Amino acid sequence: QTLRELVCAMPKAELHMHIEGSLEPELMFEMAERNGIRLPYASVDELRRAYAFTDLQSFLDIYYAGASVLQTERDFYDMTRAYLERAHADNVRHTEIFFDPQTHTARGIPMGVVIDGIHRALQDAQREWGMTAALILCFLRHLSEEEAFATLEQALPFRDRFIGVGLDSSERGHPPEKFARVFARCRELGLHLVAHAGEEGPPEYIRTALDVLHVERIDHGVRCLEDAELTRRVAKEGIALTVCPLSNVKLRVFDQIHDHNMLELLDAGLAATVNSDDPAYFGGYVNDNFVALFDSLPLTREHAQRLARNSFAASFLDEATRERYL
Ligand code: HPA
Ligand code: ZN
Repeated sequence: QTLRELVCAMPKAELHMHIEGSLEPELMFEMAERNGIRLPYASVDELRRAYAFTDLQSFLDIYYAGASVLQTERDFYDMTRAYLERAHADNVRHTEIFFDPQTHTARGIPMGVVIDGIHRALQDAQREWGMTAALILCFLRHLSEEEAFATLEQALPFRDRFIGVGLDSSERGHPPEKFARVFARCRELGLHLVAHAGEEGPPEYIRTALDVLHVERIDHGVRCLEDAELTRRVAKEGIALTVCPLSNVKLRVFDQIHDHNMLELLDAGLAATVNSDDPAYFGGYVNDNFVALFDSLPLTREHAQRLARNSFAASFLDEATRERYL
């Protein structure tokens, strides 16, 4: 078994993917057609050519525009089903999925339509394949804390359908502490807490995500290594980093995959994991991310096993189930 075969075949958990970022251009055009929505691109090819990003914001602009085709419960179901099929083929046994309700409620789509459509696909995957999946509601950090509170209120009738909250969208200029009170409320509600930090933003955002928001994992976190003291702390406390290698290259956090710091993260004792972020936009699903890394960096079988183990250890699976995967 080659190393490439090993990383593809090994059971894994995915902990960082945005369901709206799994909407492939073909499905996007299909939904646009059936919902009578005009996309500002003439074809699938033209749309794909627009996926030449220079930074996080240049991606977000296209990502939010693409989500406008999602209108009905069926649309959310179909998008989620397509992702779960890809994840299942990549031997993902458990996935924790981000969704961005504000992107939809701002367009007049009811919260229940979004959550029910996604949830029904998760139930089908569990029933058909025994794959487990959970939802994490993300607040858009370029919007206000007041809007985050309003979104939380709208989601509370569906409290049993999501396990936690996260923070995504434009990082620079929107530090974690902007959402201190809403995260404190979510903590009281017993929700799991995560936040994107240290992708484009400085290591300081990782520190405040931990100290002010009390998050349990850091999404991305690759800039952690710029701060030696922070790196020692994150390693010591066993805080997992949900790293997304192909995303990092597409959004120019690293120039090329050969420059990615995954090996340094692991060598520093950090609980890094491999994830796809927005697979339809960044060139692949979780196994594509593993293959790109293992083809480009001097990573070993031991690293592969550690990454798979980290993915389950850092998951929000109940303790007994988690232990069975370790
Ligand atoms: N970073 C921030 N927000 C996002 C991302 C990301 O990589 N993907 C979708 N929303
Ligand atoms: Zn992300």
